[in-house]
Amino acid sequence: GRKAAPRLIIAGAPASGKGTQCESIKAKYGVVHLSTGDMLRAAVSAGTDVGMRAKEYMDSGRLVPDEVIIGVVKERLNSPDCAESGWLLDGFPRTLEQANALAEAGVSADCFIFLNVPDEILVERVVGRRTDPVTGKIYHMTFSPPDDEEILKRLEQRSDDTEEKVKVRLGQFHANVEAVRGSYTDIAVEVDGTQRPEEVSAMIMKTIDAALT
Ligand code: AP5
Repeated sequence: GRKAAPRLIIAGAPASGKGTQCESIKAKYGVVHLSTGDMLRAAVSAGTDVGMRAKEYMDSGRLVPDEVIIGVVKERLNSPDCAESGWLLDGFPRTLEQANALAEAGVSADCFIFLNVPDEILVERVVGRRTDPVTGKIYHMTFSPPDDEEILKRLEQRSDDTEEKVKVRLGQFHANVEAVRGSYTDIAVEVDGTQRPEEVSAMIMKTIDAALT
Protein backbone atom coordinates (compact mmCIF):
# COMPACT_ATOMS: atom_id res chain seq x y z
CA GLY A 1 0.00 0.00 0.00
CA ARG A 2 0.86 3.67 -0.21
CA LYS A 3 2.73 5.25 2.63
CA ALA A 4 0.99 7.90 4.70
CA ALA A 5 1.50 11.47 3.51
CA PRO A 6 4.44 13.24 5.25
CA ARG A 7 3.64 15.77 8.00
CA LEU A 8 6.64 18.02 8.56
CA ILE A 9 7.45 21.11 10.62
CA ILE A 10 10.48 23.33 9.95
CA ALA A 11 11.52 25.91 12.53
CA GLY A 12 14.39 28.31 13.02
CA ALA A 13 15.21 31.97 13.54
CA PRO A 14 14.33 34.70 11.03
CA ALA A 15 16.45 34.15 7.89
CA SER A 16 17.79 30.80 9.12
CA GLY A 17 16.91 29.39 5.69
CA LYS A 18 13.43 27.89 6.23
CA GLY A 19 11.95 29.21 2.98
CA THR A 20 15.05 28.23 0.98
CA GLN A 21 14.95 24.65 2.32
CA CYS A 22 11.19 24.37 1.84
CA GLU A 23 11.66 24.78 -1.93
CA SER A 24 13.75 21.58 -2.10
CA ILE A 25 11.71 19.65 0.48
CA LYS A 26 8.53 20.41 -1.47
CA ALA A 27 10.18 19.35 -4.75
CA LYS A 28 11.34 16.02 -3.29
CA TYR A 29 8.36 14.96 -1.14
CA GLY A 30 5.48 16.65 -3.00
CA VAL A 31 4.06 18.10 0.22
CA VAL A 32 1.95 21.25 0.47
CA HIS A 33 4.19 24.11 1.69
CA LEU A 34 2.38 26.18 4.31
CA SER A 35 4.39 29.28 5.20
CA THR A 36 2.48 31.42 7.69
CA GLY A 37 4.66 34.41 6.73
CA ASP A 38 3.68 34.01 3.05
CA MET A 39 0.02 33.43 4.00
CA LEU A 40 -0.03 36.57 6.15
CA ARG A 41 1.75 38.71 3.52
CA ALA A 42 -0.84 37.54 0.96
CA ALA A 43 -3.65 38.42 3.38
CA VAL A 44 -2.18 41.90 3.94
CA SER A 45 -1.91 42.49 0.15
CA ALA A 46 -5.47 41.27 -0.39
CA GLY A 47 -6.74 43.44 2.47
CA THR A 48 -8.67 40.59 4.14
CA ASP A 49 -9.83 40.73 7.75
CA VAL A 50 -6.84 38.63 8.85
CA GLY A 51 -4.50 40.86 6.82
CA MET A 52 -5.86 44.02 8.41
CA ARG A 53 -5.41 42.56 11.88
CA ALA A 54 -1.88 41.30 11.10
CA LYS A 55 -0.39 44.29 9.28
CA GLU A 56 0.79 46.51 12.14
CA TYR A 57 2.45 43.58 13.92
CA MET A 58 4.29 42.40 10.81
CA ASP A 59 5.40 45.93 9.92
CA SER A 60 7.12 46.27 13.29
CA GLY A 61 8.62 42.76 13.34
CA ARG A 62 6.39 41.47 16.15
CA LEU A 63 4.46 38.19 16.07
CA VAL A 64 0.81 38.55 15.14
CA PRO A 65 -1.59 37.54 17.95
CA ASP A 66 -2.13 33.77 18.30
CA GLU A 67 -5.88 34.10 17.73
CA VAL A 68 -5.31 35.72 14.34
CA ILE A 69 -3.06 32.98 12.94
CA ILE A 70 -4.20 29.74 14.63
CA GLY A 71 -7.58 29.57 12.88
CA VAL A 72 -6.01 30.22 9.49
CA VAL A 73 -3.56 27.33 9.88
CA LYS A 74 -6.10 24.87 11.25
CA GLU A 75 -8.44 25.58 8.36
CA ARG A 76 -5.66 25.17 5.80
CA LEU A 77 -4.49 21.85 7.31
CA ASN A 78 -8.05 20.54 6.97
CA SER A 79 -8.15 21.04 3.22
CA PRO A 80 -8.10 17.95 0.96
CA ASP A 81 -4.71 18.69 -0.67
CA CYS A 82 -2.98 18.53 2.73
CA ALA A 83 -4.60 15.19 3.58
CA GLU A 84 -3.73 13.83 0.14
CA SER A 85 -0.13 15.06 -0.30
CA GLY A 86 0.99 15.79 3.25
CA TRP A 87 2.20 19.15 4.49
CA LEU A 88 5.23 21.17 5.50
CA LEU A 89 4.58 23.82 8.14
CA ASP A 90 7.06 26.71 7.85
CA GLY A 91 6.98 29.39 10.55
CA PHE A 92 4.28 27.71 12.65
CA PRO A 93 3.98 26.92 15.52
CA ARG A 94 6.00 29.85 16.82
CA THR A 95 4.59 30.09 20.35
CA LEU A 96 3.59 27.57 23.03
CA GLU A 97 -0.06 28.54 22.49
CA GLN A 98 0.23 27.71 18.78
CA ALA A 99 1.86 24.34 19.53
CA ASN A 100 -0.86 23.56 22.08
CA ALA A 101 -3.58 24.54 19.58
CA LEU A 102 -2.20 22.03 17.05
CA ALA A 103 -2.05 19.28 19.66
CA GLU A 104 -5.60 20.04 20.81
CA ALA A 105 -6.78 19.86 17.20
CA GLY A 106 -5.25 16.37 17.00
CA VAL A 107 -2.55 17.46 14.55
CA SER A 108 0.74 15.63 15.04
CA ALA A 109 3.84 15.56 12.84
CA ASP A 110 6.43 12.97 11.75
CA CYS A 111 9.40 15.27 12.15
CA PHE A 112 10.29 18.69 13.65
CA ILE A 113 13.37 20.12 11.91
CA PHE A 114 15.18 22.90 13.76
CA LEU A 115 17.61 24.94 11.65
CA ASN A 116 20.33 26.21 13.96
CA VAL A 117 22.06 29.45 12.88
CA PRO A 118 23.72 31.97 15.25
CA ASP A 119 22.31 35.53 15.42
CA GLU A 120 25.38 37.26 13.97
CA ILE A 121 24.99 35.33 10.69
CA LEU A 122 21.26 36.01 10.52
CA VAL A 123 21.53 39.80 10.29
CA GLU A 124 23.66 39.59 7.14
CA ARG A 125 21.26 37.06 5.61
CA VAL A 126 18.29 39.32 6.30
CA VAL A 127 19.67 42.54 4.83
CA GLY A 128 20.91 40.80 1.64
CA ARG A 129 17.73 38.82 0.98
CA ARG A 130 15.66 39.57 -2.15
CA THR A 131 12.61 37.78 -3.57
CA ASP A 132 11.49 37.35 -7.17
CA PRO A 133 7.84 38.47 -7.26
CA VAL A 134 7.23 36.41 -10.43
CA THR A 135 8.52 32.99 -9.28
CA GLY A 136 8.62 33.49 -5.50
CA LYS A 137 12.24 32.27 -5.49
CA ILE A 138 14.49 33.54 -2.68
CA TYR A 139 17.91 35.07 -3.50
CA HIS A 140 20.74 36.71 -1.59
CA MET A 141 22.75 39.58 -3.08
CA THR A 142 26.04 38.14 -1.76
CA PHE A 143 25.45 34.39 -1.31
CA SER A 144 23.11 33.50 -4.18
CA PRO A 145 22.49 36.37 -6.63
CA PRO A 146 20.53 35.58 -9.84
CA ASP A 147 22.64 35.25 -13.03
CA ASP A 148 19.80 36.63 -15.17
CA GLU A 149 19.79 40.43 -15.61
CA GLU A 150 15.97 40.51 -16.04
CA ILE A 151 15.41 38.72 -12.72
CA LEU A 152 17.95 40.96 -10.97
CA LYS A 153 16.02 44.08 -12.04
CA ARG A 154 12.68 42.88 -10.70
CA LEU A 155 13.86 41.58 -7.29
CA GLU A 156 12.04 42.94 -4.23
CA GLN A 157 13.09 43.46 -0.63
CA ARG A 158 10.71 42.74 2.26
CA SER A 159 9.80 45.79 4.34
CA ASP A 160 10.68 43.95 7.58
CA ASP A 161 14.17 43.01 6.32
CA THR A 162 16.01 45.92 7.94
CA GLU A 163 18.69 45.67 10.61
CA GLU A 164 16.41 47.46 13.07
CA LYS A 165 13.39 45.19 12.52
CA VAL A 166 15.39 41.99 12.50
CA LYS A 167 16.44 42.81 16.07
CA VAL A 168 12.77 42.88 17.09
CA ARG A 169 12.13 39.64 15.16
CA LEU A 170 15.09 37.93 16.83
CA GLY A 171 13.84 39.04 20.25
CA GLN A 172 10.43 37.51 19.55
CA PHE A 173 12.09 34.32 18.33
CA HIS A 174 14.32 33.90 21.41
CA ALA A 175 11.41 34.57 23.76
CA ASN A 176 9.44 31.61 22.34
CA VAL A 177 11.81 29.09 20.79
CA GLU A 178 12.50 26.91 23.85
CA ALA A 179 8.81 26.48 24.64
CA VAL A 180 8.07 25.48 21.03
CA ARG A 181 10.99 23.03 20.85
CA GLY A 182 9.90 21.61 24.19
CA SER A 183 6.59 20.60 22.62
CA TYR A 184 8.32 18.38 20.05
CA THR A 185 11.23 16.77 21.92
CA ASP A 186 10.19 13.28 20.73
CA ILE A 187 10.38 14.13 17.00
CA ALA A 188 12.86 17.06 16.96
CA VAL A 189 16.09 17.00 14.95
CA GLU A 190 18.55 19.88 14.96
CA VAL A 191 20.32 20.67 11.68
CA ASP A 192 23.35 22.97 11.30
CA GLY A 193 21.97 25.76 9.11
CA THR A 194 25.31 27.54 8.64
CA GLN A 195 26.44 25.14 5.89
CA ARG A 196 25.83 25.76 2.18
CA PRO A 197 22.15 25.37 1.18
CA GLU A 198 22.78 22.08 -0.70
CA GLU A 199 24.54 20.59 2.33
CA VAL A 200 21.73 21.70 4.63
CA SER A 201 19.21 20.10 2.22
CA ALA A 202 21.09 16.81 2.25
CA MET A 203 21.06 16.71 6.06
CA ILE A 204 17.36 17.58 6.19
CA MET A 205 16.42 14.90 3.66
CA LYS A 206 18.34 12.24 5.56
CA THR A 207 16.42 13.29 8.66
CA ILE A 208 13.04 13.19 6.91
CA ASP A 209 13.73 9.83 5.27
CA ALA A 210 14.64 8.37 8.65
CA ALA A 211 11.50 9.80 10.24
CA LEU A 212 9.25 8.40 7.51
CA THR A 213 10.50 4.81 7.66
P1 AP5 B 1 8.17 34.86 8.18
O1 AP5 B 1 7.90 35.18 6.78
O2 AP5 B 1 7.93 33.47 8.65
O3 AP5 B 1 9.64 35.34 8.49
P2 AP5 B 1 10.81 34.72 9.38
O4 AP5 B 1 10.52 33.63 10.30
O5 AP5 B 1 11.42 35.92 9.97
O6 AP5 B 1 11.63 33.95 8.38
P3 AP5 B 1 12.18 34.49 7.08
O7 AP5 B 1 11.19 34.37 5.98
O8 AP5 B 1 12.76 35.85 7.34
O9 AP5 B 1 13.46 33.57 6.83
P4 AP5 B 1 13.67 32.09 6.35
O10 AP5 B 1 14.08 31.25 7.52
O11 AP5 B 1 12.56 31.60 5.50
O12 AP5 B 1 15.00 32.31 5.48
P5 AP5 B 1 15.23 32.35 3.90
O13 AP5 B 1 15.19 30.96 3.35
O14 AP5 B 1 14.40 33.39 3.24
O15 AP5 B 1 7.33 35.82 9.14
C1 AP5 B 1 7.23 37.20 8.90
C2 AP5 B 1 6.31 37.84 9.93
O16 AP5 B 1 4.99 37.25 9.84
C3 AP5 B 1 6.70 37.65 11.40
O17 AP5 B 1 7.62 38.62 11.83
C4 AP5 B 1 5.34 37.78 12.09
O18 AP5 B 1 4.96 39.13 12.22
C5 AP5 B 1 4.40 37.08 11.12
N1 AP5 B 1 4.21 35.65 11.40
C6 AP5 B 1 4.53 34.61 10.57
N2 AP5 B 1 4.21 33.44 11.14
C7 AP5 B 1 3.69 33.73 12.37
C8 AP5 B 1 3.19 32.92 13.44
N3 AP5 B 1 3.19 31.58 13.38
N4 AP5 B 1 2.75 33.55 14.54
C9 AP5 B 1 2.76 34.90 14.64
N5 AP5 B 1 3.22 35.72 13.66
C10 AP5 B 1 3.69 35.13 12.53
O19 AP5 B 1 16.77 32.80 3.88
C11 AP5 B 1 17.15 34.10 4.27
C12 AP5 B 1 18.28 34.62 3.37
O20 AP5 B 1 19.46 33.83 3.58
C13 AP5 B 1 17.99 34.52 1.88
O21 AP5 B 1 18.52 35.62 1.21
C14 AP5 B 1 18.67 33.22 1.44
O22 AP5 B 1 19.08 33.28 0.08
C15 AP5 B 1 19.87 33.18 2.38
N6 AP5 B 1 20.24 31.81 2.76
C16 AP5 B 1 19.40 30.77 3.04
N7 AP5 B 1 20.09 29.66 3.35
C17 AP5 B 1 21.41 30.01 3.29
C18 AP5 B 1 22.63 29.30 3.52
N8 AP5 B 1 22.62 28.01 3.88
N9 AP5 B 1 23.80 29.98 3.37
C19 AP5 B 1 23.80 31.29 3.00
N10 AP5 B 1 22.68 32.01 2.76
C20 AP5 B 1 21.51 31.38 2.91
